[in-house]
Amino acid sequence: MEPAPPVGSRAVNAPAPHIIVALDYPAAEPALALARRLDPARCRLKVGKELFTRAGPGVVRALADAGFDVFLDLKYHDIPNTVAAACAAAAELGVWMLNVHALGGRRMLEAARDAVHARARAGGRRPLLIAVTILTSLAEADLREVGFGGPPAENVTRLAALARAAGLDGVVCAPTEAAALRATLGGDFLLVTPGVRPAGAGAGDQRRVLTPAQARAAGADYLVIGRPVTQADDPLAALAAIEEELAEGPA
Ligand code: C5P
Repeated sequence: MEPAPPVGSRAVNAPAPHIIVALDYPAAEPALALARRLDPARCRLKVGKELFTRAGPGVVRALADAGFDVFLDLKYHDIPNTVAAACAAAAELGVWMLNVHALGGRRMLEAARDAVHARARAGGRRPLLIAVTILTSLAEADLREVGFGGPPAENVTRLAALARAAGLDGVVCAPTEAAALRATLGGDFLLVTPGVRPAGAGAGDQRRVLTPAQARAAGADYLVIGRPVTQADDPLAALAAIEEELAEGPA
């Protein structure tokens, strides 16, 4: 199923790359070096906590200035006023997508939504705003320890519905959760899935992985893929192989 072009999309008529390469590097230089070899028409880029904390907003601006759609993965979770201000700052940086924790609650989610929508009203490019529900690293026993009842999937569905009700554009989820969320939440809610591994690649520390084609078939709109590209001997060839796998569909 092809969702409507996202609001944050750079060019509405351009083919939308479904791959988001996670630039998990400890400094700006290797991230920018890889970006120089990549094509904004073929992938988007993700900047997470490590790179942002080491290299700061400059690296985000440099990637956006190079024409890339940047997903700023800082998972904001704080009081509504603070999160809204952080979202406004991210929007001013020119990011394409950013995220918050759904566990911040409805008022925090709505404050984040209002901050990014204000950006659009001011004539800027509105970033897509998505929520993290339950971290995929948490199992049922971990959830119980922090006071949550029920299996992770039940909590994920409830928090994704809350994010949707609060006017967010989508959620981050495990690829194995995508089909159920797509069925519950409908077609116009973005599903962004890490934990994707090309056929034949090592899973590393990821659990519950699907291949890119399986994740897309399960309803994922965007696939976050890090090490299979960034640590490949030939990152461009690795990306091309994933594109080919996506074009062929699930085995
Ligand atoms: O290298 P790999 O493909 O495992 O990278 C996945 C990326 O997605 C990393 O940046 C990781 O922090 C992020 N991520 C994840 N699992 C989540 C949420 C984010 O792997 N549940």
